[in-house]
Amino acid sequence: MKKLTDYADCAGCASKLQAVDLERIMEDLQPAHVDDRILVDFRTADDAGVYRWSADSALVQTVDFFTPIVDDPYLYGQIAAANALSDVYAMGGEPRTALAIAALPKEGPPPEVIREIFRGGSDKLREAGVVLLGGHTVTDPEIKFGYSVTGHIHPDRVWTNACARAGDILVLTKALGTGVVVRATKFGFSTEVQWESAVASMVTLNHTAARIAAGLRAGSISACTDITGFGLIGHATEVAQASGTTLAFTAGTLPLLSGAAELAAANLPCGGRSNLVHFRRVTVGPDVPPEVALLCMDPQTSGGLLFSLAPDAAVGLMDQLTAAGVRAATVGRVEPRGADDVLVRLS
Ligand code: CO
Ligand code: CO
Ligand code: CO
Repeated sequence: MKKLTDYADCAGCASKLQAVDLERIMEDLQPAHVDDRILVDFRTADDAGVYRWSADSALVQTVDFFTPIVDDPYLYGQIAAANALSDVYAMGGEPRTALAIAALPKEGPPPEVIREIFRGGSDKLREAGVVLLGGHTVTDPEIKFGYSVTGHIHPDRVWTNACARAGDILVLTKALGTGVVVRATKFGFSTEVQWESAVASMVTLNHTAARIAAGLRAGSISACTDITGFGLIGHATEVAQASGTTLAFTAGTLPLLSGAAELAAANLPCGGRSNLVHFRRVTVGPDVPPEVALLCMDPQTSGGLLFSLAPDAAVGLMDQLTAAGVRAATVGRVEPRGADDVLVRLS
């Protein structure tokens, strides 16, 4: 019987080259919709769109789906749900409802396998307190699964990419390296322990981290994004671009999944390679180990949250995250954009 990942063109490769072209198409669709109730849309490359209903209530909407990155259907469903929900958390929102999106081959895995994918997703939604309202399925040779998620947020408490401030501290939750570990597993290079820690990371909701950050004094968090297909550097670039700043990371402080550095040194992931081409205004210091630089460009699935926050709130956030069992680290700071126009500096 075919494995689930056999139904994917490139398992573990969340290369976003296509998305880059789509962004250009979106830009060509000017004039964009003009409506003062649009608080956030695609123009700031944010995690989700935000639309104001009333003075104290706004809608957060996102959609995310991808091909199988693991062979266990229940895990695949869980990861797809955790990943889709994450974009709402990354805006500071509370996810409430979801719609499933599935592409399934005519002659695909047996119904009980498909059922497990949906069950994994539903269980993860339930854990997040999100209800499934419906969905849509199409026939496709490649399996794809995910959700459109709708959440709620106060219009004054949206974490957009555009508001990172020079002087902010950068805090990252979860460890980097899911792309490298998934890919190494596909070719039989990873150990069971490495694989299990990557899976444990991918099925973990960003719910706790987001809730703690949202509970900080109003205005403490200036920007937030989750780390997914563009990798740490790609998503940091989006924040820097939108906010007119430079994000400076200290390589030695970055949390890495167990074994990820060794696997990265041995295997260049294909998504990572296309991501390398994508970043021009990024500098990597001479002392940064190449495998760490690679992990910073590694496409992540259901990665952590990157918070840009006021220095006086950073210690409190770290303490609360640690107390709640969330893996997190202070990984750098936000600087004013220099004359060199660099967006992300890794040193
Ligand atoms: Co995102
Ligand atoms: Co997304
Ligand atoms: Co955001």
